Amino acid sequence: MSEAANDTIKKDTIKMVDIYIMGKKYHVPETLTIMDAMEYAGYQLKRGVGCRAGFCGACATVYRMAGDYELKVGLACQTKVEDGIYLAQIPFFPARKAVYELEEIKPNVAHFAQLYPEVFRCLGCNSCTKVCPQDIDVMQYIAYLQRGDFAKAADTSFDCLMCGLCVSRCPVNIVHYNAALAGRRLYSRYLTKPDPFLTKRARAIEAGELDADIDELVNADKEKLQELYNNRDIEK
Ligand code: FES
Repeated sequence: MSEAANDTIKKDTIKMVDIYIMGKKYHVPETLTIMDAMEYAGYQLKRGVGCRAGFCGACATVYRMAGDYELKVGLACQTKVEDGIYLAQIPFFPARKAVYELEEIKPNVAHFAQLYPEVFRCLGCNSCTKVCPQDIDVMQYIAYLQRGDFAKAADTSFDCLMCGLCVSRCPVNIVHYNAALAGRRLYSRYLTKPDPFLTKRARAIEAGELDADIDELVNADKEKLQELYNNRDIEK
């Protein structure tokens, strides 16, 4: 059977749904993710797309179902389309990022408050946690940052993809993900012990001892990279 005939059969057996991208209606297979549906509809994605696997946070999307008042969010590469879904992409959110030299600040509340004073205006509405597509307890790590508990803030925020959706819903304009990033930097710079293996490895890189290995990685194709990644040594 020809490929075209096969495609026809597949189209006949897959249910099609109506979706709305930036207000325009398209008819797409219901099995697609939002990202695949946009491409099926003819959009060429240059922004709002990255890893396609739920890791990079580039594909934040807000959506609403027809007739429903609730605004929902998701990652376009992970969320399936539904009939009557109205979509808008948020490839970038214009959030503030404090500029600082890590060596000039210390892991205490006073220094942190200079970088991100808005963190201390949190109203406790929990909108940030509710909107997070990673199910991170965002409001909780903001509370840890307010207390200067950078270890717990680092741990709680670790899976953040920096998609920006928390910031888009915050009534007092906290930039949660950038504040968490500063917290993780303070934690790793001042509060954890240096890792001997990492130190040794960094010195070897500086001395050029790993140049050949780095060249091999740079020139490897996707299959080779996957094989190396899957068989890598994992530190205990
Ligand atoms: S494209 Fe990377 S998380 Fe969706």
